[in-house]
Amino acid sequence: MAGSIKQIGVLTGGGDAPGLNAVLRAVVKTATNIYGWKVVGIEDGFEGLLGETLTRPLDPTDVRGLLPRGGTILGTVSRGHFATQTGGAKDESAYREAIHNCERLGLDALIVIGGEGSQRTAYDFWQMGLPVVGVPKTIDNDLVGTDMTFGFDTAMEFATQAIDRLHTTAESHDRVMLVEVMGRDVGWIALQAGVAGGADVILIPEIPFYLEKAAARVAERDACGAHFSVVVVAEGAHPAGGEQVYQDSGQPDRARRLGGIAERVGEGISLLTGKESRAVVLGHLQRGGRPTPFDRALASAYGSAAVRAIAKDKFGHMVALRNHEIVTVPLEQCVMSIKCVPANHYLIGVARDLSISFAGEND
Ligand code: F6P
Repeated sequence: MAGSIKQIGVLTGGGDAPGLNAVLRAVVKTATNIYGWKVVGIEDGFEGLLGETLTRPLDPTDVRGLLPRGGTILGTVSRGHFATQTGGAKDESAYREAIHNCERLGLDALIVIGGEGSQRTAYDFWQMGLPVVGVPKTIDNDLVGTDMTFGFDTAMEFATQAIDRLHTTAESHDRVMLVEVMGRDVGWIALQAGVAGGADVILIPEIPFYLEKAAARVAERDACGAHFSVVVVAEGAHPAGGEQVYQDSGQPDRARRLGGIAERVGEGISLLTGKESRAVVLGHLQRGGRPTPFDRALASAYGSAAVRAIAKDKFGHMVALRNHEIVTVPLEQCVMSIKCVPANHYLIGVARDLSISFAGEND
């Protein structure tokens, strides 16, 4: 098949992340300069494959200067006809329409840059006969099959900078400052940024917390003269036996929006310790802005590897970082679950050695 390839499509799906444009740049440069293929950009994620289709040709001049630019020039959506958060039945007619349009557009293969939802959709398309290759994207780093998604390093760096800033105001006021970070149902950003930023308490979804234990760590610091504390809270963290905190009641085609747990934890700590607390939600600041050098390089490696995977007929696979190597893994292995922080992750042991509490049953 590789010999017959003349034109490939590429799309960006799900939430945006720093590094998307770097992947697009690498896809276009590799496809054009190494294989002589044409590249068609699909706009607004999979939705761009429906109806009259939303596409644009991408050649090296179109991607010039994109490497350090956040966001995606193609646009993306995290809802619509192919959203799988509902867990409901697939819209088969939409899939068939999209496949027909890929044929009509003369696409010999499709690169899907996205998180676990987009890769699940890519896997469905592959099972229906569309030659696809996935590229792992998300700031959450919750995609099974790869050591790291691009976007994570940039979000984690921003969160760490925010924690650094909160230390100075916390100390000035003898307060408890809480910072709520993204990550949906996993705690990778909170864990990594919490250790890097010198947090005193880190709350993650993987370790259901006890408010009393978080307050005890604050009180312990107070008693030994550190009259301020910094608490990093993953948006999906929840009390033991309790529920996650949401901002809305959800929509038919997308999951409920998490948010507000840090404020609740702050109120509880204030009640238990008598100390003032303030909560900050970083939200989409973690999704925007310029990718870090690490993410630019990883995104570039993924884009180049995705094109090479097409040349090797590795369809139904996702490019991935494994033990410092770029490899391809079957999509089927990546889309059945999300990658949570394991209880034995080395950073959890390191954090506890540094007197960081997870306020869990073992803290
Ligand atoms: O999956 C990436 C992510 O940023 C999550 O961390 C966050 O919960 C979610 O997307 C926010 O989605 P939206 O941009 O649709 O509000």
